[in-house]
Amino acid sequence: MARSRLPLIAGNWKMNGLRADALALARGVADGVRLAGWKDREVLICPPATLLIAVAEAVAGSGVLCGGQNCHVGASGAHTGEISAEMLSDSGASHVIVGHSERRADCGETDAIVRAKAEAAWRAGLLPIVCIGETLAEREAGRTLGVLEAQLKGSVPTGATSAKLVVAYEPVWAIGTGKTPTVAEVAAAHAHIREVLTGLASDAGALRVLYGGSVKGSNAGELLSADNVDGALVGGASLKADEFLAIAKAA
Ligand code: PGA
Repeated sequence: MARSRLPLIAGNWKMNGLRADALALARGVADGVRLAGWKDREVLICPPATLLIAVAEAVAGSGVLCGGQNCHVGASGAHTGEISAEMLSDSGASHVIVGHSERRADCGETDAIVRAKAEAAWRAGLLPIVCIGETLAEREAGRTLGVLEAQLKGSVPTGATSAKLVVAYEPVWAIGTGKTPTVAEVAAAHAHIREVLTGLASDAGALRVLYGGSVKGSNAGELLSADNVDGALVGGASLKADEFLAIAKAA
């Protein structure tokens, strides 16, 4: 892992957490991060939007960063039920996940929409984490690298730099399944992603590319050791403070 790329361990809580448990989890993560005193990695948690303000307050001063899981492309207006990047920022977020495969699948988010959401994040001063990843059928058809390339070219806005973008590679078949690619498969995907990014970002060598999909304490060390992996996007294992902190420790 190049020293210029500060590892980022991001927890995506998805649609999990009611106030009491979520605040206990946030405090657990904050306590662990405060104790560890890491200067060589970043730790981010992305709670449901309903909990963002409370979680941001609970972790204030610990070094733990907060992010949203999605945003609308607009800043405000008649979009019932939607949340803008500006609202996330106003609630204490510094980051926002865009284009997660669950949103691509459940909400029909296309590369063009993901790209517009990343631009909305920039407009609001947030750092977007753009997610890409192949399905099992695409992998079995030998199309993984082509799919990743097309998603990147469609989802990364013009003007991307390492300071303005994080990419997360999440094979759809590895999310929430307990299955992971081999370290060699992860390294091959990440090498290709970095190569494609060379044409999309002025300083692609410094841009962080996270791996996501069934990362847990026991496999984080191995997965994060793959070339060009600059951290993890963690779903299920981010819902337990000890497990999430073990992943952060492995970074
Ligand atoms: P998982 O989810 O860690 O539960 O596989 C990862 C993600 O969807 O970001």
